[in-house]
Amino acid sequence: MKKNLFIAFEGIDGSGKSTQVKLLSDSLEKAGHKIYTTFEPTDSPIGKMIRDIFNHRLEADHRTIAGLFVADRLDHLLNKSNGILKKMEEGYTVITDRYYFSSYAYHGAHMPLDWVIEANSLSADLLRPDINIFIDISPEISLKRISDSRISMELFETLDNLRQVKDKYYEAIEKLKDQERVFITDGNRPPEAIFGDIWNEISSMII
Ligand code: ADP
Ligand code: TYD
Repeated sequence: MKKNLFIAFEGIDGSGKSTQVKLLSDSLEKAGHKIYTTFEPTDSPIGKMIRDIFNHRLEADHRTIAGLFVADRLDHLLNKSNGILKKMEEGYTVITDRYYFSSYAYHGAHMPLDWVIEANSLSADLLRPDINIFIDISPEISLKRISDSRISMELFETLDNLRQVKDKYYEAIEKLKDQERVFITDGNRPPEAIFGDIWNEISSMII
């Protein structure tokens, strides 16, 4: 068995990340791996502030939000009690629902992508995912899933915005293709079909 992995799931809202994180962690656990699942925005005070902004309890400029995500991510990595780096050292395979590609895609839609990449470079230097799994769904399906499953829509959830975010994901993936391993899977299919692809890819990394 190879070293424990750091796996990041990416995709626009409602792309099925949480669903696939659960399927993957269950399967890896069954195969005998120690698994720690986590997500961004985190549950830290910084992550809570971000959620308050998304829920309109607080007001902030999108540049401030981008900065808060940078800080939230560093805390996600470095936190002494349950930070990702600590979990990796303890031998866990860590699966995160969103990491810095989310910043590239969501904030790159409002400000220069290079700035967002540079602002997240400390995190990238600390820990690069062994694999980023990008679940690609159409913005129309995303919006339908979100409106079926939620009472209120978040800040980014309009069709135009989802299209822009998806485009930025692809721009960032292309730009970073020499540094980042990205596995793209078609998310417009049943969960089991998507998971089949993901499992093939991950299996090849752990055997
Ligand atoms: P995310 O974490 O990316 O927001 P979720 O996994 O929470 O996405 O899925 C969003 C909604 O879509 C949920 O109601 C979920 O049950 C449903 N869903 C997830 N994957 C699929 C799929 N492949 N096909 C149809 N519906 C899905
Ligand atoms: P999340 O709770 O994962 O929402 P969803 O389940 O719909 O994917 O993320 C909340 C929002 O935060 C989501 O719209 C994407 C956004 N986001 C950013 O804008 N920048 C970031 O760096 C991250 C990690 C998330």
